[in-house]
Amino acid sequence: MAHLFTPKKVGAYTLTHRVVLAPMTRLRTIQPGDIPSPMMADFYGQRASQGGLEIVEGVSISVPARSYLGAASFYHDGQVEGWKAIANAVHASGGRVFMQLIHGGRQSHVEMTGGVAPVAPSVVPFEGVALTKDGFVPASPHRALGIEEIPGVVEEFRVAAQRAHDAGFDGVELHGANGYLVDQFIQDGTNRRTDAYGGPIENRVRFLRETVEALISVWGAERVGVRISPSGEWGGISDSNPEATFSHVASVLDGYGIAYLHVIEPRIKGDDTLHDDHPPVAVKYLRPHFSGPIIAAGGFDGDSAEAIVASGDADLVAFGRHFSSNPDLPYRLLHKLPLTPYVRAAFWGGDEKHYSDFPAYSPTVETAEETGETA
Ligand SMILES: Cc1cc2nc3c(=O)[nH]c(=O)nc-3n(C[C@H](O)[C@H](O)[C@H](O)COP(=O)(O)O)c2cc1C
Repeated sequence: MAHLFTPKKVGAYTLTHRVVLAPMTRLRTIQPGDIPSPMMADFYGQRASQGGLEIVEGVSISVPARSYLGAASFYHDGQVEGWKAIANAVHASGGRVFMQLIHGGRQSHVEMTGGVAPVAPSVVPFEGVALTKDGFVPASPHRALGIEEIPGVVEEFRVAAQRAHDAGFDGVELHGANGYLVDQFIQDGTNRRTDAYGGPIENRVRFLRETVEALISVWGAERVGVRISPSGEWGGISDSNPEATFSHVASVLDGYGIAYLHVIEPRIKGDDTLHDDHPPVAVKYLRPHFSGPIIAAGGFDGDSAEAIVASGDADLVAFGRHFSSNPDLPYRLLHKLPLTPYVRAAFWGGDEKHYSDFPAYSPTVETAEETGETA
């Protein structure tokens, strides 16, 4: 039976444990220009471990792909050194690091997209927010992508993947979750197109296929992962039949032989737990459709992570919030040490405080008996 600390081959890499850093946008790039900051390199370096995998926060592939002021992006040369420093910081401790590539689609605002309307598969009003210099503000009205524009967006994904490659990363993860552009194409609540990219699920996965193929053209399939969030509610997304839709998505991705499928459980909405008492359900129904490694994410602690790996429904577990405040999370889980509570107030922007200043475990450092949340 597999355990959290049984080695696992994930695509091209053999990991020595299965505790993965989940991607977390922390809005700590240097402005203007979304320059990756030294404190970001500290953050990822601190969380690196021999044979462990980290997935770096959502990285926008272009200006029109941006959603949040301060969030990461990679589309100009001035960002290269910062990203290299992050990859080097992880490698210095023997870890592996994938970059999550994102296009925000309709979850944006003209101030973030360079003055142009955000794009989406279809015009379906979105009640959510984007983050600009004025704070969280209602998203701008979006427009539907013309079919002739789609290859250009796919090409932006390819170019960003090449940049990640050249900066020394170990792979890329396509952000197909949380109601951003790829997810907007997959789910029928946001995809009302009547052309080759809309209608039946075979058409709604066309954009996913094309972006995955673009990433594979740079990296090879064994260095590409994909993240999905079946029945997730972040980003006002919905589908009339999530189980059928995402089972199909998993089968399609299985056909490419990608490194892993990364699944957010629907008990989580973005950065928060919606349904504390819900067990993991998505990985269970997706497992028969995907033969490669599955990373489960969303609401796990050490015990429930062990349980899902032992059950075989998932092979690895990604941790977000607990990893934010426990840089040595794999070590703490291995030795069943107490966890430091995370600090929600520092999630979305700020400086080093409650970001890159959490210490590794020490019996003399004050830690909470129970894990929990500090607002
Ligand atoms: C501050 C914050 C930022 C996040 N940013 C991203 C992101 O950039 N990309 C992504 O796929 N998920 C993002 N998430 C979701 C996490 O990856 C993860 O799915 C979520 O925190 C649930 O896992 P947990 O219960 O272990 O925290 C974010 C979560 C938090 C708390």
